[in-house]
Amino acid sequence: MAGDHDLDHSFGSMAVSADERRARIRQVFEAVAPRYDLMNDLMSFGIHRLWKRTLARRVMGITGQVVDLAGGTGDVARLLLAPGRRVTVCDPSLAMMHAGQQRPGGAQLQWLVGEAEHLPLADASVDLLTISFGLRNTTHIASALSEIRRVLKPGGHFVCLEFSRPAAWLAPFYDLYSRWVIPRLGAAVAGEPQAYQYLIESIRLFPDQQGFATLMGQAGLAEVTWENLSFGIACLHFGVRPREY
Ligand SMILES: C[S@@+](CC[C@H](N)C(=O)[O-])C[C@H]1O[C@@H](n2cnc3c(N)ncnc32)[C@H](O)[C@@H]1O
Repeated sequence: MAGDHDLDHSFGSMAVSADERRARIRQVFEAVAPRYDLMNDLMSFGIHRLWKRTLARRVMGITGQVVDLAGGTGDVARLLLAPGRRVTVCDPSLAMMHAGQQRPGGAQLQWLVGEAEHLPLADASVDLLTISFGLRNTTHIASALSEIRRVLKPGGHFVCLEFSRPAAWLAPFYDLYSRWVIPRLGAAVAGEPQAYQYLIESIRLFPDQQGFATLMGQAGLAEVTWENLSFGIACLHFGVRPREY
């Protein structure tokens, strides 16, 4: 399992300061924003859409204030739109959010500039906070989780969709695909091979299922469970801010 420390000081295989990492990640998403959704479809053969729909189904009964953190182009936030909910996309990248605002459903969402480590949201104000493929881009997962717990109402729900550790039989094929195919696809389609190299490295450094569940518990979240998707290539992590916290 990779620790929080690894993410603080690396960008791909390079050792960098936390500030530099933050700036480089910002550049990655500014660069890929126009082709981000298309690349997701190509890289995952569209399967990311099934994962995101599974996330939306798992939280169907929850109403009130919903925040999709690291929400990018609003892909997940659109799936979360439902009666009785106010859905906000929160992301530091104006380019990602701008790309999403132009698409259908963009006007039904609220758009908020903000980073996971310093959420521009009041204490205990959110009923459901989701984050998909976003936490591994933060400079400090523990601070992000602690912020997430702060903004959740007691009894509020947290759901994280993230790449994780695939089953052992699948790992060699997945490894080959992510090392060789994805950066080349990133070069051909988005013209950004380095950006996609970074994305692959950040997946490798992110904690596995158990490791992330432990971090969630350490951040004060309760009822921590997870559900593997596509044999563990991705994983849905669930937690709740305890009522007595
Ligand atoms: C891989 S994209 C995921 C976008 C969207 N959630 C999805 O699943 O399609 C990662 C997003 O994280 C955002 N991000 C980067 N650093 C962040 C941070 N420190 N806090 C919150 N979001 C961040 C990026 O701007 C980008 O939109």
